[in-house]
Amino acid sequence: MTGFSVLGIIPHLQDASMQEQIWMFDTLDSTNAEAKRRALSGASNGSVVIANCQTAGRGRMGREFYSPKDTGIYFSMILRPQIPTQEAVQMTAAASVAVCQAVEKVCGLSLSIKWVNDLYLDGKKVCGILTEAVGSVIIVGIGINCNTVFEGELAEIAGSLFVSGDEMRCRLAAELVNRISRLEEDILHQAWLDEYKRRSMILGKKVTVLQEPGSCYLAEAIGDKGELVLLDSKGKKKVLFTGEVSIRPTFGTE
Ligand code: BTN
Repeated sequence: MTGFSVLGIIPHLQDASMQEQIWMFDTLDSTNAEAKRRALSGASNGSVVIANCQTAGRGRMGREFYSPKDTGIYFSMILRPQIPTQEAVQMTAAASVAVCQAVEKVCGLSLSIKWVNDLYLDGKKVCGILTEAVGSVIIVGIGINCNTVFEGELAEIAGSLFVSGDEMRCRLAAELVNRISRLEEDILHQAWLDEYKRRSMILGKKVTVLQEPGSCYLAEAIGDKGELVLLDSKGKKKVLFTGEVSIRPTFGTE
């Protein structure tokens, strides 16, 4: 194991008692999978699983999440929210804002959000979030590329924060613990919404909905629950609560 350890995280926790709920591994299949196993065995609200490397990191839409050792943060928190399920759908979007704030505080970098929860720096995705439910339990899984080098096709779309060192990873992991544990409170106070809109990189742009290849919509607004409001070419509204969009390249005067 590297200096990326619970001992390195503890000094940066806002609530020192959280250290008892952090499980850290050198290698795991997936921190989300481990968090699910632990949730099913009764792990408490706010428990965290962190790995230095994942052999089967999972992304959204059944994709793989590249998770090499020593260069990223692979983090999952078990949440047992008290808020109604209709409100809990906001967790995904609220988590994006919490991660942006953590990165800004620790690394001084300002990330943009591509709906729903992909985080970008300089046009490349540097962080992905996978929120999964196990009954009433929610697992918020976060993968941050701190200093990951990508090759081939991935290098065109994926990037890194380019912050190095275990100390930095420890500080960032601690800040994730501090902020993701407050997610339910953020939702109750709608404390995430304005910042989510401000950081959005798609509002006002033309987008394609991944589930409708070739489609073209204007990304008009983000609703109170984090839903995306789109307009088609005839001005007809379409509202998405889940899914994925990509920004359409612009040609000439389009
Ligand atoms: C995505 O970009 O599609 C979401 C990626 C989520 C990756 C993180 S890494 C920690 C946690 N464990 C996983 O297997 N996935 C999430």
